[in-house]
Amino acid sequence: MVDLDKIVSLAKRRGFVFPGSEIYGGLAGTWDLGPLGAEMAHNIKELWWNHFVRAHEENYGLASSILMPEKVWEASGHLEGFADPLVECNKCKRRFRADQLEDKEKGKCPECVGVLSEPRQFNLMFKSQDAYLRPEIAQGMFVNFKNILDTMHPELPFGIAQIGRAFRNEIAPRDFLFRVREFDLMEFEYFVREEEWEKNFEKWRGEIWSWIEKVGINKDMVHELEVSKEDRAHYSKRTIDFEFDYPFGKKELYGLAYRGDYDLSAHEKASGADLRFIDQASSDKFIPHVIEPTFGLGRTILAVLLSSYAEDELGGEKRIFLRLKPAIAPVTVAIFPLVKNKPDLVAKAREIYSSLKQCAKSVQFDDNGNIGKRYRRQDEIGTPWCVTVDYQTLEDGTVTIRDRDTGEQIRKDQKELEKYFPERIS
Ligand code: GAP
Repeated sequence: MVDLDKIVSLAKRRGFVFPGSEIYGGLAGTWDLGPLGAEMAHNIKELWWNHFVRAHEENYGLASSILMPEKVWEASGHLEGFADPLVECNKCKRRFRADQLEDKEKGKCPECVGVLSEPRQFNLMFKSQDAYLRPEIAQGMFVNFKNILDTMHPELPFGIAQIGRAFRNEIAPRDFLFRVREFDLMEFEYFVREEEWEKNFEKWRGEIWSWIEKVGINKDMVHELEVSKEDRAHYSKRTIDFEFDYPFGKKELYGLAYRGDYDLSAHEKASGADLRFIDQASSDKFIPHVIEPTFGLGRTILAVLLSSYAEDELGGEKRIFLRLKPAIAPVTVAIFPLVKNKPDLVAKAREIYSSLKQCAKSVQFDDNGNIGKRYRRQDEIGTPWCVTVDYQTLEDGTVTIRDRDTGEQIRKDQKELEKYFPERIS
């Protein structure tokens, strides 16, 4: 298992992730994505959208507001139930999550010699004037349920999906991207007839596993946990957590919950809107039940980095490389002129760079330093292929393609590249 420090350092050094507001000493629980992290996050979101939304004709996309009024959170149960048990030190006044203290620490402050209070519930929502920053994106889908019925006229089962930011006032943000105060969620609510909830729960359970494989998370590091009734969220009738072996322990990566008709019923009661589904054949009206698969983007990035980090020796030299899937790598193909002081080579490499930009996801031009150094730089950020334009290219139009994982090089006609890469990216 790779050290978290190695991942954090690589992420910072190569422009994946920076501490939030770093020049002011940082703000706990915030991280900023650098150029490579932003590119990778974009690719993951696109892959997720294709996998869970576009591939299923019954799933509809949504992008709802971050600010939502108190009434939503009263109805959803978050005002009352979305809280962590906190204890406070009578001396240094620091607060800790009671459920995260080691048994031996109970009662004693882990930071000083003080005594800890009894646990008190501390609500995790951020309030802004009359509204709350949403702590989950799910409520945006429930409050738009009727809009989707009225505009899309779906049959059951159908889903509403979105990707967006959520905010939680975590008292103890920690472990890099694992526990932060603002994060992106990729999630959908899948509406079903009550009697069909188990079948659909199993369907999405299987799809989560195929997503884990597709995005490049090591399946052997993921484990299902059947969450007990006492540990489930207030709305859930069944939850499976997909846990990942992080360097700091086995903890939640994704979740799959059966929310019953909890949310729509609560919103119907609180808003007075009729949120029943009308069955076209029988004219029956009823509140559908909901299956909810949920995916944190930051935890996905962390699990992908941890799964793909590798060190080996190639050509007698030690190297670090990321075995990222081509579909999510921040740079898909890097193009090098063999040397940068030969205008013919540079012009040819630029020409190939421009044409590849139209068909490969993200292409980088690099003429800095010797070829070996350029390979190492690209390996470290997980670029699957490097294309080198050399003197032979000027004679016969062929280039070398070098594979990140094996270091092997093959020669291909430049005309074949526009087909070669797209075929391997998807
Ligand atoms: N709508 C259901 C819901 O929000 P959740 O388990 O509270 O469920 C969903 O959160 C996902 O969000 C988690 O599976 C995890 O991937 C991610 N997540 C939750 N809290 C987080 C935090 N403080 N920092 C980073 N990611 C978090």
